[in-house]
Amino acid sequence: MEYNRGLKLGTAFTVLIVLVAIYYRNSDNILQKRLQALIHGLEKLENKHVMTSRPKVAIGYGVCTDVYVNAKDLLGYTDEIGQPQHYDEINTELELLKSFAYYFRHGAAAERYMPNRTLFDELVAKARSFSSSYSTIGGNAAIMALRFAREGCDVTLAAKLTKSLHQMIPQVINIVGGEVKRDDIHLVIEYKHGDIWGPYSSARANRYIVHNDANNPRISSLDAFDKVLLKDEPNLLVISGLQMMDNYPFPDGDRQKLLHGVKRQMTDRSASTKIHFEMASFVEDKLLFELCDTIIPFADSLGMNEQEIANLYNAMYYGNISLVANSTPRIATVLDQMRTLLKLIHTRSKTIENSRELTRIHVHTLAYQAIFTVKGSMWKNTMAAAAKASLTAHRHVCATSHVDINKAALILDDSFSTSIVNGTRIALDINKPVSCWDETLKIESKNVVIQVCVAPVLVCTEAAQTAGGGDNISSAGLVLQI
Ligand SMILES: *[C@@H]1O[C@H](CO)[C@@H](O)[C@H](O)[C@H]1NC(C)=O
Ligand SMILES: *[C@@H]1O[C@H](CO)[C@@H](O)[C@H](O)[C@H]1NC(C)=O
Ligand SMILES: *[C@@H]1O[C@H](CO)[C@@H](O)[C@H](O)[C@H]1NC(C)=O
Ligand SMILES: *[C@@H]1O[C@H](CO)[C@@H](O)[C@H](O)[C@H]1NC(C)=O
Repeated sequence: MEYNRGLKLGTAFTVLIVLVAIYYRNSDNILQKRLQALIHGLEKLENKHVMTSRPKVAIGYGVCTDVYVNAKDLLGYTDEIGQPQHYDEINTELELLKSFAYYFRHGAAAERYMPNRTLFDELVAKARSFSSSYSTIGGNAAIMALRFAREGCDVTLAAKLTKSLHQMIPQVINIVGGEVKRDDIHLVIEYKHGDIWGPYSSARANRYIVHNDANNPRISSLDAFDKVLLKDEPNLLVISGLQMMDNYPFPDGDRQKLLHGVKRQMTDRSASTKIHFEMASFVEDKLLFELCDTIIPFADSLGMNEQEIANLYNAMYYGNISLVANSTPRIATVLDQMRTLLKLIHTRSKTIENSRELTRIHVHTLAYQAIFTVKGSMWKNTMAAAAKASLTAHRHVCATSHVDINKAALILDDSFSTSIVNGTRIALDINKPVSCWDETLKIESKNVVIQVCVAPVLVCTEAAQTAGGGDNISSAGLVLQI
């Protein structure tokens, strides 16, 4: 009897274990099937539109060498760091550590100028001594140029660089600007999601950049670029890399002069040339306000991430800036910011001579892509562009050309609201992953009809690179729309 009961209990236990195992395998299977369907849906959209011609894309400004290093290798945590702190520029190693702590704990990207070249060179040499360190071509404009060229566009890049860096860039890219003796270097200090540094842990994978640029902030390729643009009007002009001017020690008035040069380059374009401005991490409020007056009114399209839209929104709506924002904002929050920005920029631009009407905004975040286009404007294929941007985000961060479901996670909920106040709920349809709808925005007395598209991102769970992500993603989104 005793033996029999033991046997029964044992059997029941085994059956239970098997059932649990089947349950888990099934739910694992269901999850994998969902991801597979989602990837399939996105890829179908991405491949729906083939480019039939080679669009001419001209991209300003700058190039550099990016030196990558793991934060944990380069920066040791010590108690001396104390309170994390924000600095406009980095003058000592301690300031670097305090400033790094400030952004790391929020998982927010940051970019800072380091005036002391000796200190900067020492840091770069130290970074290069780690076996995990490697270098690539960097700079927003250059990365966008590489991406547009890979997508089959005729690309001109405005940048000054050394012969040796020039040789590393594919010959199909036409580089104008001339030669320099020393390339600008950006030291890219990377960390992964959940990395621990002293008392802090990072909310997401991201990077902190320091630089000691001599060429990029001065846009030394501006005039040479002008000559090319006058001879050959591009289909798309991209303005990027202006954040290198942030907190840069210019002689009085020089920066305004440079920005006016950029503005003229924009206003000189024919109406058929689309103009895109790629935002970046700006911390100097004065520069951001200058951009709002001198650059943004003359762009047809804006591209930015979740930090940059929070910053621009605060600058235009409140007149202050935000250094760090939520690194995983709700879709409703971002869509509301996009609506407000579109309205504010339209309203302001009306009173500005030679301004263009903003007709496109693309916001890329870790978990999703959101694109607004004004209906009837020159931008096409918004749904496919959102899908392509989403796939590019995953591929870039995972550093792979195909999407591997074992390294992909969907962090969006099953549905999302279109606005914080009185939004409509939209269910995420795995088989039709990009949700698009029309909305009418009342701007002063005019009704502006826009198309809104939101695509989920398959977040890469084994992040290999984060810098340059935004540039790849923005370009991938643009290429299907021109
Ligand atoms: C620049 O950094 C070097 C190396 O850390 C240091 O010796 C020097 O005093 C610094 N110069 C200034 C002006 O702070
Ligand atoms: C900017 O101003 C608004 C309104 O006064 C305020 O709510 C917000 O906290 C401020 N943001 C920053 C970053 O100072
Ligand atoms: C992003 O751009 C860089 C520079 O062109 C490139 O090395 C990288 O592979 C790109 N990422 C993807 C996903 O194509
Ligand atoms: C939200 O909806 C309520 C009820 O329909 C309405 O009274 C209110 O004005 C709406 N709020 C906004 C901001 O549209």
